[in-house]
Amino acid sequence: MNFPVKVVFVCLGNICRSPTAEAVFQDMAHKRGVADKFEIDSAGVGNWHVGDRPDYRQAHAAEQRGYRLDSFARQIKKSDFDHYDLILSMDQSVHDSLIGMAKTETHRAKIKLFREFDPDSKGEKEVPDPYYGGPEGFGEVISIVERGCRNLLEQILVGEI
Ligand code: 4NP
Repeated sequence: MNFPVKVVFVCLGNICRSPTAEAVFQDMAHKRGVADKFEIDSAGVGNWHVGDRPDYRQAHAAEQRGYRLDSFARQIKKSDFDHYDLILSMDQSVHDSLIGMAKTETHRAKIKLFREFDPDSKGEKEVPDPYYGGPEGFGEVISIVERGCRNLLEQILVGEI
């Protein structure tokens, strides 16, 4: 993949899972001194939260683990499929929506399930949606996202993807 690699993380509302992935990936790339090799963003499939800050429960859990979530929610748009190199879906329904929006095989090939990069996924394909669950769900999102982002970053840097 040619640098800078453009990556967009996509969930449903763009206020919990994908802003977390954006912040964690950015932090890891920065700490490894390779932030300038990436353009990182996040988006949602839905439009309910456009313009909103991340969910305070997710933001609080992230802050306790050393990450600042400071994005504003936006909805994924058609031009994103041209602009980004990797479009990472946080769950199967998001994945299906993105595949449905993709107009070409080139676009479709950019869409991957993020959880497939989690080496500890035990076959699970999704980052569970924490929005309607208990407080522990937000911490779990961070743990999954940390494992997935570490592996994703490594795979990109060694040229495996
Ligand atoms: P996210 O979580 O997709 O990780 O941002 C959700 C946020 C909002 C809603 C669902 C999931 N919602 O239904 O409003």
